[in-house]
Amino acid sequence: MKAAVVDRYGPPEVMQIREVPKPVPGPGEILVRITATTVNSGDARMRAARVPRGMKTMFRLAMGWNGPRKPVGGFEAAGVVEAVGAGVTKFKPGDRVTGSHGFKFGLHAEFALFAQTDALVATPAGLSDTDAVSVLFGGSTARYFFAAGGLKAGQKVLINGASGAVGVMAIQLAKRAGTQVTAVCSAANAEFVRELGADAVIAYDREDFAARPERYDIIMDNHGNAPFARVRHLLVPGGKFLQVIGDLGEMIAGKFTRQVVGSGKDSDMVSAAVYGELLDLTARGALRPVIDTVLPFTRIAEAHVRVDSGRKRGSVVVTLP
Ligand SMILES: NC(=O)c1ccc[n+]([C@@H]2O[C@H](COP(=O)([O-])OP(=O)(O)OC[C@H]3O[C@@H](n4cnc5c(N)ncnc54)[C@H](OP(=O)(O)O)[C@@H]3O)[C@@H](O)[C@H]2O)c1
Repeated sequence: MKAAVVDRYGPPEVMQIREVPKPVPGPGEILVRITATTVNSGDARMRAARVPRGMKTMFRLAMGWNGPRKPVGGFEAAGVVEAVGAGVTKFKPGDRVTGSHGFKFGLHAEFALFAQTDALVATPAGLSDTDAVSVLFGGSTARYFFAAGGLKAGQKVLINGASGAVGVMAIQLAKRAGTQVTAVCSAANAEFVRELGADAVIAYDREDFAARPERYDIIMDNHGNAPFARVRHLLVPGGKFLQVIGDLGEMIAGKFTRQVVGSGKDSDMVSAAVYGELLDLTARGALRPVIDTVLPFTRIAEAHVRVDSGRKRGSVVVTLP
């Protein structure tokens, strides 16, 4: 089968589509023929070894020094069950499925194996594979941070980096929760985030939101340029700062600050229950998938170029025949 392989960290051109052995499902395993996958901000970070300040050595020790120890990336996918191993009762060949097996990666390929216990769920009828896969990364991240930050109806929420994969889901989930949302993005995306439900928009290229008088119950930073130290004065007493991205110093400091909510365990986000909920909302039209670009698998390097721009709206999806 074909897979997008990265031998050494670098620009999108390091990615090569190559022939690799097709996996065979063992007991309890499900072989999925992938039809749609994403190139998300995490995939682009992995390919380039591009991590926040202070994390380079830790990243390379964990993931591989000169190149990724897992050379085929890809965090989430949708597709069709091709075959199942002994003892699999959850799915049968022909079932449409969507999911992730987290940091095992390997989903930028024609086929992948999932364990029955992985976060793999049935794709709702009527929901395309492209739409299904596009909501997982941002939706599960926003959902985790909002739950950990105690988001509740009536609150005022500011979302910095509101038009990326996490931001577009955060706006919609925060509105569903009955909050008042202020979105921070470029002026070019102002109308777009309003359409998603934002009550107010602050264009970062026209104005510094941190200099305004409004106060918030929750501030979510999806871009890394609004750390707690810069925005804490905008929080009401007891308000929460959702540190979706931060450098090593900020993350360590956050652990000692009750107002800062940091990343959770993988299982908080890569979960069948969470994915099932997100797909159900999307199938019912209650959550709008936001897809920046769809490219065929043969052009996956171009998908990485788009993600590297830092300007994508929502998700970049790659499709396989
Ligand atoms: N902690 C976790 O568990 C976790 C989970 C998922 C993701 N993350 C991290 O969260 C971050 C966001 O992920 P993502 O997938 O949403 O990223 P993304 O889709 O690549 O974000 C792109 C968006 O960033 C916006 N942006 C660019 N410059 C900005 C600025 N100066 N101020 C505010 N917004 C700006 C852009 O909006 P404009 O075009 O309007 O500028 C664009 O829409 C990434 O760093 C990712 O690694 C962390």
